[in-house]
Formats: sequence, C-alpha cells, structure tokens
Amino acid sequence: MTVRLGVIGGGTFGIHHLAAFRQRADEGRAELVALADVDAGLLAEREARFGVRGYADFREMLDREDLDAVSIATPDHLHREIALAALEADRHVLVEKPLDVTEEGCREIIEAARRKNRLLQVDFHKRYDPEHRCLAERVRDGALGRALYGYVHMEDRIEVPSRWFPGWAARSSPAWFLGIHFFDLVRWILRDEAVRVTATGWKDKLTSIGIETYDALQSKVEFSRGASVTFDTSWILPDGFEAVVNQGLRLVGTEGCYAVDSQDRGAESCLTGEGMRTYNNHFIMGKTDRFGRTIYSGYGIDSLLDFVDNVTFLRKGGSLDRLQGTYPDGEDGLAATRIALAVHRSAEENTTVELDPNESR
Ligand SMILES: NC(=O)c1ccc[n+]([C@@H]2O[C@H](COP(=O)([O-])OP(=O)(O)OC[C@H]3O[C@@H](n4cnc5c(N)ncnc54)[C@H](O)[C@@H]3O)[C@@H](O)[C@H]2O)c1
Repeated sequence: MTVRLGVIGGGTFGIHHLAAFRQRADEGRAELVALADVDAGLLAEREARFGVRGYADFREMLDREDLDAVSIATPDHLHREIALAALEADRHVLVEKPLDVTEEGCREIIEAARRKNRLLQVDFHKRYDPEHRCLAERVRDGALGRALYGYVHMEDRIEVPSRWFPGWAARSSPAWFLGIHFFDLVRWILRDEAVRVTATGWKDKLTSIGIETYDALQSKVEFSRGASVTFDTSWILPDGFEAVVNQGLRLVGTEGCYAVDSQDRGAESCLTGEGMRTYNNHFIMGKTDRFGRTIYSGYGIDSLLDFVDNVTFLRKGGSLDRLQGTYPDGEDGLAATRIALAVHRSAEENTTVELDPNESR
C-alpha cells in the first residue's frame, strides 16, 4: 500500500518537499500526486519537473484529489488557514516551521488535528541532524550532568530576506525564520520548557532598504530546571560570508561541555569568483545514482521522509498514540511559537517575559 501525497507551496523550500516525496514515489513507497501554488509560472515548471497535477487553489486540490496527506510550505502567516482546511478535509498534515505565528492559531490547528484524529507534524528538521542527536543522547544519559547554560547562533546572509522572499520577509524576523529551529531543538535536547525570556532587537540595515523587520534578535531563554541559553539570530551577513547559513550551539553542564558547529562540517573551498566557502552537506545533499537520477539525503530530507513513513504507518493500521514522542508534533510547534512571541514582546517592550511552562503543552 502506498500513501498519496500533495504539497501546498512549491517555492524555495517546498521544492525540497517535492524532491523528497518524488524520491519515495520512485522507490514505489508513495505517490506524489499534486501541488497547489498561486504562482502560475512556478506551478507549470514544477508540474513538468515532478510529474504532479497542479492547482492554483489549494482548496480545489483538497476537494478533487484523494490524498492521504499534505505538506504545507507557504509563507509563515498562511500556514494556519491552509492547515485547518487540510485537517478539515481529513488529511494528515506536515507544516513547515513555524506552525503558526500566533498562539491561538497553533492551538486551533492542534485542536483540529485532535478532533479529526490526524497526524500533525512540524518540520523541525534540526532534531534529525545526527550531530544534534548525539548531543541530545549525551545530555539525556547524564554525561553533561545538570545543564547550566548554553549558546546558539544562527545567521543568514542578507540575500535570504532581501532576495529569496522579499514579498513576505517583513512579516517574518530572525526569530521566526531562524531562532524557531533552535528554540525547538534546545527544548527537545533538554526535555524542558522555557519559563523566562529577555531579548534585544535591532532594526537598521533591512529597514534602510525598505524591508521593515529586525536585522537581529538576541534572546536569553531560561528553562524550568534552571538552564539558561542565549540565542543570537540575524539575517544580514554580507554576501561575501562563506555560507548562506552560519549556525551552531554549545551546552555546558556540571560535568562538562558539548559543542556542535552545525555549519562548517570540515569541507571548504576557495574558487575563482567565489571566495572561501564552507559546506553543511549534512543538510541536503544530492548524489547521482547509477541511472543518472539525483538522490537526496541529509537531515533536511530525513525529516520530510519521516512524515511519509509516519503516514504509511498510520495507513497500515498503526495508531497516533504509538507514534507520540517520536516526531515534532503540534504541541512542540506551539511551545516554539510561544518562545518566539515572547522574544518579540521582550524586544519591543524592553521587558522580561514570563512563560507558564504548563501552558506550552
Ligand atoms: N525548514 C527549513 O529549513 C526552511 C527553510 C526555508 C523556509 N522554510 C519555511 O518554508 C515556508 C516557505 O518558505 P519559502 O522560503 O519556500 O518561501 P517562498 O516564498 O519561496 O515559497 C512560498 C510558496 O508558497 C506559494 N503560495 C503563497 N500563497 C499560497 C497559497 N495561498 N496557496 C498555495 N501556494 C501559495 C508561493 O507562490 C510560493 O511559491 C515558510 O514557512 C518558511 O519559514 C523552512
């Protein structure tokens, strides 16, 4: 039995959803059926490249196609309406991060998934990075002792807000686009919830070119068992920086420390016209197989394939209860969104924001 999949939003990141699902389809383990996107030119290109039926209207796709599941890779502020419609149509749903940019929206989506008894998964792929999994294991088996403090950095080159999606960058921020990944990751590693957030934000470079959002947001997040972690996020690194993304984390406990450079995995180059480059090939890497097809691997693909495997498990009679705790779910999406909202509120009001950990799940 193969599961039937659709994608809503086939842009810069949605294309990875299409590639991952196409791969499962080529293995005979899924069917990639349809794509909905409001951009007619992009839709035509993706239809031809991935062999999908295209729809300008996602509701029409949900009505017409007999799908088991859909993934959503539209701009952040559109996740809520689309996720609710997909769950209402009884589909299992994978939502790109953030689940939604409001707490009410996250709760509404979680409630709809519960009512419909459908899988709701959030694409927090940093949990699938093997280096992060090793770190999580050492924290959980007690090797670090009691977690005391840590620091995270995630920074994009300025091309991301200014050239990748200038149309909606002003509705996002370094905390929504980048920090959210690590808010989830650190919660997941520590198995703890945030209780206090203090943040500072800067608006300068992007506003000077007409994009009204933060250049950078720095936050200190305290967790209920006492750990305190800072998150430095920005998306204005100059074009000459060695990679599109710079990222890493370090945690310190009573018994030691553990650091992961999630960007520079040891490969570097300096080519004419390019300057120095480092590579995070562990994210998404394409290799050519013996038939000349491109096969993708890496944690960015693994988290998408995990969704397909979860849907397959459910289609074969498995239960949602059995899967619980094995994937980033709606409550994880809500908890990360609550931290991001607190970061913005703290930066805007120049105050410390208290969070009730019991309201995160
Ligand atoms: N997991 C990651 O590492 C990662 C990386 C980048 C982006 N993202 C997330 O993926 C999502 C998409 O980001 P992106 O960079 O691909 O943006 P994008 O702007 O490149 O693509 C969004 C696509 O959605 C389409 N769209 C907009 N409204 C639609 C609608 N109503 N129905 C159907 N299609 C619609 C647009 O035409 C576009 O093709 C965002 O939530 C973003 O935060 C995740």
